[in-house]
Amino acid sequence: MSASVISLKTKENFSQDLVIQQPPNGISLQGSIRVPGDKSISHRALMLGAIAHGETEIQGLLLGEDPRSTASCFQAMGANISELNTNLVKVQGIGLGNLQEPVDVLNAGNSGTTLRLMLGILASHPGRFFTVTGDSSLRSRPMSRVVKPLQQMGADIWGRKGGSLAPLAVQGKSLQPIHYHSPIASAQVKSCVLLAGLMAEGKTTVTEPALSRDHSERMLRAFGAKLSTDPQTNSVTITGGAQLYGQKVVVPGDISSAAFWLVAGAIVPGSELVIENVGVNPTRTGILEALEMMGADITKENEREVAGEPVADLRVRHSRLQSCVIAGDIIPRLIDEIPILAVAAVFAEGKTVIKDAAELRVKESDRIAVMVKQLNQMGAKVTELDDGMEITGGTTLTGTDVDSYTDHRIAMSLAIAALNAEGKTSIHRAEAASISYPDFTATLENICG
Ligand code: S3P
Repeated sequence: MSASVISLKTKENFSQDLVIQQPPNGISLQGSIRVPGDKSISHRALMLGAIAHGETEIQGLLLGEDPRSTASCFQAMGANISELNTNLVKVQGIGLGNLQEPVDVLNAGNSGTTLRLMLGILASHPGRFFTVTGDSSLRSRPMSRVVKPLQQMGADIWGRKGGSLAPLAVQGKSLQPIHYHSPIASAQVKSCVLLAGLMAEGKTTVTEPALSRDHSERMLRAFGAKLSTDPQTNSVTITGGAQLYGQKVVVPGDISSAAFWLVAGAIVPGSELVIENVGVNPTRTGILEALEMMGADITKENEREVAGEPVADLRVRHSRLQSCVIAGDIIPRLIDEIPILAVAAVFAEGKTVIKDAAELRVKESDRIAVMVKQLNQMGAKVTELDDGMEITGGTTLTGTDVDSYTDHRIAMSLAIAALNAEGKTSIHRAEAASISYPDFTATLENICG
């Protein structure tokens, strides 16, 4: 059955249409799935491995385009990174402060995490000059959120619009420690400042309005950094000067990728899926809480800790979903899952409200505008808010032509919506999924078959 349900069409310009054709008697999804490695942890393992002393071994690295961008930037600055694969990647670190000046522009591709975290490392490399850029999406995303605190630490950074847009030029310097009160809950901002603080003399503190993902804190500590946290104030302090030492990192499956199957299993009648080996760090599990609020049938099995990160298998069964309100401190803990949560809300009874999520407008695409437009095109009832959306559930979706806007999470969210849409849906530029999930279509075929 799968061959007729899902097909890929490659166009002359090499972009791909993912075509999903609803069979007359519907589909149900069954099986056990492994999702690729966590994107956030993969970036951090490559970066810390590159600037640590000695060898870092990474198991389960995500082979998506984004970590590849990180690897190639750090290779260009002297780190020796073995061929990327999921079994074992070896990084020969060159020690803190020893990155070489690259002879060409560093290209972070589509990856905000690569560019923003790397800026903290580059700005604190005295005497070296760096230029950094990215693809057209990344060149339009705000960089002032990291450039400002780095400038407060004494960094020299130049770029378009007063240094707020890439391409950026960085003259590395010795930086001063600061206490930075970030106006946004952003792990990229927090991590950038902490990485810059690694080489500043004294204590650098970041306080954020709500807790964002804490993978940097966990991994920096494991590599030997001196770090303390104050959960009361959402603050983290790093003391500069400590050396980092290569470690063994085991990357768990990415809960942001698992989220597509959790929602698929919850909304497609008759489905039951097990997603194995998923990272369930509490700073990332907002998606589980939101789906639980909606009445989804999800159980955590085989909970364990692997290399400093909590991991579990997640079982999801189809169930009737209810609307809910998603707002406030939970937002940073499910920020990347809002497009797929919007799909869940389309199939829930009542009006779901998503607020306090204006950050979505500056992701790989404007995820509020794009999801509202694409879901409405399929027949959903979604209203755009400045900082989110209102979704009236219970409408029937009809397959049509939709577009990913080259945003990986939009492409995959629309594919899951298409599983419950009548007729045929064509998702244009679906190859964007390879940023974080190169095997997405193959897995989709497997569980439909
Ligand atoms: C990430 C942090 C989040 C998230 C992004 C990955 C990270 O961004 O949306 O996909 O790895 O630090 P912000 O820090 O901008 O919230």
